[in-house]
Amino acid sequence: MNGKRILLIVGGGIAAMKVPQLIRLIRAEGAAVTPVLTKAGAQFTTPMTLSVLAGEAAHDSLWNIAAEAEIGHIQLSRNADLVVVVPATAHLLAKMAHGLADDLASTLLLATDKRVLVAPAMNVRMWHHAATQRNLRTLREDGILFVGPEDGDMACGEYGTGRMSEPEAILDAIRKELAPQPLKLLPEAQVRTGILSGRHLIVTSGPTHEPIDPVRYIANRSSGAQGTAIAAALRDLGARVSFITGPAEVAPPEGVHVIRVQTAGQMREAVEAALPADGAVMAAAVADWRVTKSSATKMKKDGSGKPPSLEMTENPDILAWISQPGERRPRLVVGFAAETNDVLAHATDKRRRKGCDWIVANDVSEGTGIMGGSENAVTVITDEGAEEWPRMAKDAVARRLAQKIGEALA
Ligand SMILES: Cc1cc2nc3c(=O)[nH]c(=O)nc-3n(C[C@H](O)[C@H](O)[C@H](O)COP(=O)(O)O)c2cc1C
Repeated sequence: MNGKRILLIVGGGIAAMKVPQLIRLIRAEGAAVTPVLTKAGAQFTTPMTLSVLAGEAAHDSLWNIAAEAEIGHIQLSRNADLVVVVPATAHLLAKMAHGLADDLASTLLLATDKRVLVAPAMNVRMWHHAATQRNLRTLREDGILFVGPEDGDMACGEYGTGRMSEPEAILDAIRKELAPQPLKLLPEAQVRTGILSGRHLIVTSGPTHEPIDPVRYIANRSSGAQGTAIAAALRDLGARVSFITGPAEVAPPEGVHVIRVQTAGQMREAVEAALPADGAVMAAAVADWRVTKSSATKMKKDGSGKPPSLEMTENPDILAWISQPGERRPRLVVGFAAETNDVLAHATDKRRRKGCDWIVANDVSEGTGIMGGSENAVTVITDEGAEEWPRMAKDAVARRLAQKIGEALA
């Protein structure tokens, strides 16, 4: 948990007295804590106690001008790696379920883009009340994470479900949430067996759209057909596939993890998020440039007869980035080169410049019918030289390439 930050929201219940112990435990693991108390929370523990234990100021008001000027409530909700609500009272859970934001705690809970873990604590009747149960269902559907409550004796003298989990159990749940998340890949049952069993492959596919204004964009003629076929062929050989696709014409294959993006920048981020991988096939036709400052409103003719001039900026080079030597580099990186002239020379040069292992080169010049068509004629350039494959269906190119990848990663 070293270096992580927890936004700790403290509701108004007796169990708030366990919060100081929880803060100690979290900090002992190297994580930072930002405490936030509700008005009721401050009746059970104090901002002073929590500030001292956290080693930083506790927050309790939305109307704190100094904090708004320095960090602001939105920032507070985003700076955290995880938001934890301890104790999560019936009232606070109800507010979360209904999206109410009438104080700092509930506003942060609505504004955050991070995972939220709640530790409910309440009287057994409050817990079993139909309204609470309805709110819990909503929260589970919203992806809120739960730790507890447990069965046991309550502060009010009754017995039943509603007792907050002990700080150690809450710490365990926090630890679990902060551990690197396994890649969101398919359940084992859906993964086929083959020479790529147990391997994770990233495939990028399709064009990217670089916005000019809200309605216009720069794109290219890539249909995504070849990348889609490659993802399907790798899946058929048993690979787990992260399929990162721009706005393509063809539907993504079934049985792969699909990540949809629009721009080159988003594609680069999606590739990074999908790592580590055993191999990467970068088949997307990524735009080389984007408009430096796309317009927030639709650009209009101004009657002068002069067209607007667009300033362009170079996009991130995803292939060169992923090919850089280092720990995160997949063992096999395959790039694509769509060329219109001197295909072999340009592709050979591209392989050297980008540092990828193989380049699949194709001639997309006018008249070949390759870009947007169903067939492809490729030359695969590797350390061993250039292999020219006869013109064949894109599916067949994909199967042959997947087989070659399988053998290389065996
Ligand atoms: C002594 C005392 C103990 C309370 N304990 C709880 C509790 O454990 N769980 C709960 O949901 N509400 C409990 N309440 C009621 C809440 O404090 C009340 O609903 C409050 O509005 C919750 O506000 P908050 O959720 O914004 O912190 C308790 C109230 C009192 C006076």
